[in-house]
Amino acid sequence: MELVNPFKTDAYYGQDFFCGRQDESVRIIKQAHAKVNTILLGAHRIGKTSLINYVFGKLKAEKEITCIYFDIQHTENIGEFVQCFYGAMSNEFPEKNRSDFSKSAEYSLVNLFDFLDKLEIRILIAIDEFQQINRYPEKNILTVLRQATQKLRNVNFIFSCGSEYLLNNFFDDGKESVFTNFDLLQLSGIKKTIYSDFIFSNFEKHKRSISKEAIDFILNWSRSHTYYTQVLCNRMFASYRDSIDIEDVHEECGRILQENESNYFIYRNLLSPVQWLLLKAIAKEEKVYHPTAKQFLMQHKIGTPANIQRALDALLSKEMVFAAHDDNKRYYQVYDCFLSRWLENLD
Ligand SMILES: Nc1ncnc2c1ncn2[C@@H]1O[C@H](COP(=O)(O)OP(=O)(O)OP(=O)(O)O)[C@@H](O)[C@H]1O
Ligand SMILES: [Mg+2]
Repeated sequence: MELVNPFKTDAYYGQDFFCGRQDESVRIIKQAHAKVNTILLGAHRIGKTSLINYVFGKLKAEKEITCIYFDIQHTENIGEFVQCFYGAMSNEFPEKNRSDFSKSAEYSLVNLFDFLDKLEIRILIAIDEFQQINRYPEKNILTVLRQATQKLRNVNFIFSCGSEYLLNNFFDDGKESVFTNFDLLQLSGIKKTIYSDFIFSNFEKHKRSISKEAIDFILNWSRSHTYYTQVLCNRMFASYRDSIDIEDVHEECGRILQENESNYFIYRNLLSPVQWLLLKAIAKEEKVYHPTAKQFLMQHKIGTPANIQRALDALLSKEMVFAAHDDNKRYYQVYDCFLSRWLENLD
């Protein structure tokens, strides 16, 4: 029988494979009971979708709130949004037919919300990859959602967003806050102590050992960014060694970078020379707080503040780099942790 690898990397496989997130899940559940919407914000692959799945598992067990989940990543306009919503909803409520879809998409959306609200049961709707609405040609979706959500008495939402970009639109459309009655939950990495225990115990369960140094190295090298940590742990587990030490982890990290190298060279060809130099410099610094500062530019020999700002904007929009905050200080980091590790080793 093939051994089940406890470190999943491609989807949510249930609470047995899920690490931490106790405070976050308690908070979302509490807000749902208090009829408060949650805006869940976090970097790609940090664990937003998995957290929603975990929370929904708990709510389903409680049986007080009906949960509806849909992911709008592949939608391109309000019409597709409505179709996607309808698809998810009709799994829960097959009796709702499509007869009300004859009018505009906006009308259909309000109609679906009304239908759910009138059921007089508590409903929580998670809309994943919500930032996708930025790409819709119709610019009024936030207004439609605001008007709808203000009227709903029994329905609340989790808006899950993979970028900060949307945030300004959320809170300020020039006149008033788009959403009132919300809790903003910024999801960061899983706490190191909790992740450490999770890794250790999963090896132990299979009668294998991993040293503390090896675990510390895994968490640092993968920045405790959930997906990258999971990948590295998955690979260490798949190595079938009975006891794993830091040298084994070093070797595996090297292999990961080597396997991805051809993709990294493709990125280099797709970026301008300044963008590439800036990306490399950000990787070498790990976090950059002042990318246009003289000292940073001189140290890495990369152009003037004006062209660096342009290059930075391009890297941000290509999602090669992301911006985040440490104690209210904005910093920049290379998005893909493994790419970052590869870049920092370049000359
Ligand atoms: N708490 C967790 N414990 C264990 N594994 C996790 C956890 N959270 C996420 N993962 C793993 O990491 C992978 C990436 O997480 P997930 O897809 O939830 O991130 P995301 O923030 O939704 O990413 P994206 O913005 O790209 O949609 C998941 O497929 C899952 O296998
Ligand atoms: Mg997701």
